[in-house]
Amino acid sequence: QTIFLKDYAEPHHWVDTVHLTFKLAPRATRVMSKIVFKPNEANTGDLILNGEDLTLLSARINGAAIPHEQTDRHLIVKQADLPDGPFTFEAEVEISPETNTALEGLYMSSGMYCTQCEAEGFRKITYYPDRPDVMGVFTVRVESDLPVMLSNGNPQASGEGWAEWHDPWPKPAYLFALVSGDLLAHSGQFTTMSGKTVDLNIYVRKGDEDKCAFGLQALIDSMRWDEQVYGREYDLDIFNIVAVDDFNMGAMENKGLNIFNSSCVLASAETSTDATFERVEGIIAHEYFHNWTGNRITCRDWFQLCLKEGLTVYRDQMFSGDMRSHAVKRIEEVLQLRARQFREDNGPLAHNVRPESFVEINNFYTATVYEKGAEIIGMLRRLIGDEAYYKGCNLYFERHDGQAVTIEDWIKAFEDVTGRDLTHFQQWYSQAGTPRLSVTESWADGSLTLTFTQSTPPTPGQDDKRPQVLPIMIGLIAPDGSEVVPNTVLEMTESTQSFTFDNLAERPVTSILRDFSAPVILQRDIDAKTRAFLLAHDTDPFNVWEMGRMLAKDTLVAMITEGTPPTTDYLDALKTMLSDETKDPAFRALCLALPSQDDIAQTLFDAGTTPDPMAIYEQREELRHILASFLQDILPDLYDKNDAGAFKPDAEGSGKRALRMAVLSLLTLNDQGKAAQKLFETADNMTEQAGALMALLSAGIGQEELASFYAQWFHDRLVMDKWFMMQIAVAAPLEAAHIAQNLTHHSDFDMKNPNRFRAVFGALQGNHGGFHAPDGAAYKLLADWLIKLDPLNPQTTARMCGAFETWKRYDADRQSMIKDQLKRILGTPNLSGDTTEMVTRILGA
Ligand code: ARG
Ligand code: ZN
Repeated sequence: QTIFLKDYAEPHHWVDTVHLTFKLAPRATRVMSKIVFKPNEANTGDLILNGEDLTLLSARINGAAIPHEQTDRHLIVKQADLPDGPFTFEAEVEISPETNTALEGLYMSSGMYCTQCEAEGFRKITYYPDRPDVMGVFTVRVESDLPVMLSNGNPQASGEGWAEWHDPWPKPAYLFALVSGDLLAHSGQFTTMSGKTVDLNIYVRKGDEDKCAFGLQALIDSMRWDEQVYGREYDLDIFNIVAVDDFNMGAMENKGLNIFNSSCVLASAETSTDATFERVEGIIAHEYFHNWTGNRITCRDWFQLCLKEGLTVYRDQMFSGDMRSHAVKRIEEVLQLRARQFREDNGPLAHNVRPESFVEINNFYTATVYEKGAEIIGMLRRLIGDEAYYKGCNLYFERHDGQAVTIEDWIKAFEDVTGRDLTHFQQWYSQAGTPRLSVTESWADGSLTLTFTQSTPPTPGQDDKRPQVLPIMIGLIAPDGSEVVPNTVLEMTESTQSFTFDNLAERPVTSILRDFSAPVILQRDIDAKTRAFLLAHDTDPFNVWEMGRMLAKDTLVAMITEGTPPTTDYLDALKTMLSDETKDPAFRALCLALPSQDDIAQTLFDAGTTPDPMAIYEQREELRHILASFLQDILPDLYDKNDAGAFKPDAEGSGKRALRMAVLSLLTLNDQGKAAQKLFETADNMTEQAGALMALLSAGIGQEELASFYAQWFHDRLVMDKWFMMQIAVAAPLEAAHIAQNLTHHSDFDMKNPNRFRAVFGALQGNHGGFHAPDGAAYKLLADWLIKLDPLNPQTTARMCGAFETWKRYDADRQSMIKDQLKRILGTPNLSGDTTEMVTRILGA
């Protein structure tokens, strides 16, 4: 059942209004629907409704029973049996939320009812044309034994055991939501730019109400930011967020009723790290921003997913940059992009930002659609400039409000405001793979010429690649350190292209791909002197970090492949950087962090060397020890100076703690864990408590602290996720699988909770040395559990299969062990379509 973009056709029927009544009961919820349809004159035909796992009790059209066909996926009424013109379809179905472990449709989590409909979950609630181009005005009545009853839009009426909601904005079914539970609200208000007051609520289970204040503030900040930066105002009287413990993804932008994985909305100093605070802020913003980019203007079909996701990620990134530090945020984004999207784009799962076919759309909520999708928006803005960018956005909002549209519509808005032809640029959506960009320089008579060459390696199903449009931001710096050409965007469109700068007094040093202006792999032969110069003088913080990163990577690669010890260049540069108090502590923390083992493995593979995971692990550990001893004079001082004092989850405090924890990790190798033990005992915040524990565990100690961490936090699900995750994440390669296996027998392990499952198996796959331990134990353990989880929760199973996507990098033994496991998964009887698609793609043709 592969679905193709090229086969898109409008539906036979549009929806006008939808009335739903839910009589909630754990195993026998009744859903009554009353839907007004009108024929689509442009494409007439049978009435085709999606429906899965539904027990149909009755179906009527205009009040009368009708002949219909039913399959396990559809209910179809022949065109000949339909009235002429608009008609009302009514149905009653029964569903069982309590046994819904797939967490798609209506399900139960810790005693509450909740929904997840994107992408195609609404069809598990009732019969409906479950496609994003069909939009209707929903009125919902909830009847429940539980006190809180929520749905989309504004509250309309309520009484003992029932509540009615009306959403005036037409929306596709994937934005439908319903919640009922014994919940508490943390409330606030926001006054919009036109003076309307909006009630804000974050609903949580009892006991979590003290973890909502930060999320509420993030929501208020997001609402204000979208008004100030994009001119977008909120459009209902109320905005509700609900925290749910069992959730497949991060969160969901249902109209007026966002539903969040509790890990992405709850935050308190004692239980959440700075990274969690930052993530909560970013995801709250992301879901809120969807109100315009996703809800008011939605996608015509699921191939256009990046239309709302790439743009909304870009918007949340800009917001976080404004709230914190743009330089630090950009480095974090690039780290993520390389770790997840480049990894995907350079393996068997590589796909277009706008895919052309899929079996299961849930498998395309990927780093490529989201993160590369966001990079495309950033490149567009860089090419046309800020003014044209906001003009284009405004035109898009005006022109398409209330519509379900495509990437072509998005691009057209920018063509219309700039008069540019963006056809070539648009190829970013239809060509997979990460371009390699190389550069040579020549200097003569005051002229510097930069010659760039780009090429993109083949990806599955796409052998021939064309050059992409690349905005390459550069700067030129004179030998005395002064900038002679400030930020300049070169627009590259050809395979090879030269750009010349004239009238230069002396040969400058070039800073290339500033702010990581295009998602490419820059292959630049740069000598040590130039690199050191840029490290000291570049005005672009991203490139300063990048130079340090390259040094660290080269150092590790030389240690691994040639046994060469680190150069003093690297060690001295790092020391200078760390001691430079004019630099932001958050930035220094990023400079101190070593490239991940996975990153090194990819780098070696790209350079034609088969990565040896054990050597990578050992040499990286070796380098940590070398750094600890080389930096021993400055570590204690850095540690003391960066005590942020009373906990505040802002950029300044979190930056200091980030540096302090990075320093502590090395310090622990020198002081047998003294400082870390002390901090573990005295810390009043999770960043430092968990940081101390991680430092100890990474040094091979800390078992006592691990036990006392459990005793202190066993009652808190989200902190327990960290407890599971930490010990696996930093386990030595030969122990990781064993530790993970033991933890699956722990009484707090619950495979049905995606957060807990990911805490264990996400940590195992993220522990590069442990996952690729030579005995293959981790491969087998993960496969065992994927096979167990698949019948319960196909979506999370399929997603976790990505652990194997890099298998072609490794030696023949590892490849054959992984292949055996993939084949074993694929051979499982009744394997879900989700997992089948993923494993098939990973195995390749
Ligand atoms: N639209 C949501 C977001 O980006 C993601 C929901 C995806 N859920 C899924 N089951 N595929 O915030
Ligand atoms: Zn999103």
